[in-house]
Amino acid sequence: MPDTITITDDRTGKAVTVPITNGVFPASAVAQLDPSLYIYDPAYMQTAACKSSITYLDGDAGVLRYRGYPIEQLAEKSTYLEVAYLLLNGELPDKAQLATWSDEVTHHTFIHENMRKRFVDGFHYDAHPMGMFVSAVAALGTFYNDAKNIHDKDSRDKQILRLVAKAPTVAAMCYRFSAGLPFVYPDNEISFPANFLQMMWKVGEYEIDPRLERAMDVLFILHADHEQNCGTTAMRVVGSSHVDPYSACAAAASALYGPLHGGANEAVIRMLTEIGHVDNVPAFIESVKSGTGSRLMGFGHRVYKNFDPRATIIKKTAYDVFEVTGKNPLLDIALKLEEVALADDYFISRKLYPNVDFYSGLIYQAMGFPVAMFTVLFAIPRTVGWLAHWQELLDDKDQKISRPRQMYTGEGTRNYVDLGDR
Ligand code: ACO
Repeated sequence: MPDTITITDDRTGKAVTVPITNGVFPASAVAQLDPSLYIYDPAYMQTAACKSSITYLDGDAGVLRYRGYPIEQLAEKSTYLEVAYLLLNGELPDKAQLATWSDEVTHHTFIHENMRKRFVDGFHYDAHPMGMFVSAVAALGTFYNDAKNIHDKDSRDKQILRLVAKAPTVAAMCYRFSAGLPFVYPDNEISFPANFLQMMWKVGEYEIDPRLERAMDVLFILHADHEQNCGTTAMRVVGSSHVDPYSACAAAASALYGPLHGGANEAVIRMLTEIGHVDNVPAFIESVKSGTGSRLMGFGHRVYKNFDPRATIIKKTAYDVFEVTGKNPLLDIALKLEEVALADDYFISRKLYPNVDFYSGLIYQAMGFPVAMFTVLFAIPRTVGWLAHWQELLDDKDQKISRPRQMYTGEGTRNYVDLGDR
């Protein structure tokens, strides 16, 4: 006997029974009862907006899988480019497929000279790198008019390749401009994470420590996708209008920019810096609880109500990085905050645990990234997640242009009153 749900309209006595599939029932049941009836669901807390076979999350059990593969295994054994292939194609690549994909990505890392010389040079000297990244991704689309052929698979694949490959170049370009440093061209002979690190900091004979290169790759893997988060939802909503993927990615990146989303790791470092010393942690926690201070940034998640599996991996990666860079002095404050919060009923009762952002900023800072680059670092790998969802959206026959309704709470009809009579 399949799981079903019966919804009854008490006004008319009419009942509709529909199946429950994977914990979800179709909202069309409501329309069957009464086509003028809508569901009020602010922030889509109780809405499954699409079917997806990309990423699985179990917030109560702290489970995250890409295409069925546990994040722990991918973070330990795979590379970002392999994971990118997996997210986009549904299967891990074999040796030949990975070699071809890696070669293709490597050979699409360059960006048009006008992007660098004319577009980026037009920003104000203190422009935020993430604001620049958002605009640069949108601008990139204007260099590829074939990007509008979104129903042509070859064109779609080409744009995906370009966006995945150029994201680190654009990111490093934004950083170098904001730091007043000259652009560093991509190097096609080194790995994806090493190339990014080199484009950020190449000075003379810059040598990348393999442990930092690996840490960068692990961070890219952990951030590559996360189901229907705010940025991915933006990608799907904007992509549903059939705009080109650069414009849709720019919208997704804008969502990521917000402090409640990808901007949280930046906020964590600012918070730790303001706390300043472990002795100040209890007072800070009290201010969070009483509402007189800010939220405990890097804590809490809409879906994870037990632990964020990415946070566990990131904490370990942090120690790997600190072996090379030396310990980030803010680490002790973070550890103390975690200890105090996890023992406090306020956080326990609300199921608030460290999320991916709690420790990632500490790693980035120890590696030498300025705080303003943190969200950009998130956007580089998330680009592939956005594109995997965009592709899935376009192939989904159930999907149409996103167009929710509203519960209107404004005035009824009023007659215009002439200015002199008001
Ligand atoms: N510190 C203190 N209290 C918190 C926190 C926090 N970090 N997060 C949630 N709460 C409290 C709320 O005040 C609320 O308490 P109340 O019931 O007494 O009003 C309760 O917990 C539920 O919070 P909501 O805001 O309803 O939870 P929601 O699921 O909407 O928010 C979010 C999730 C935005 C992540 C939230 O936990 C938050 O603001 N965290 C800090 C920012 C952050 O770290 N964001 C990164 C998220 S991960 C990512 O985007 C990659």
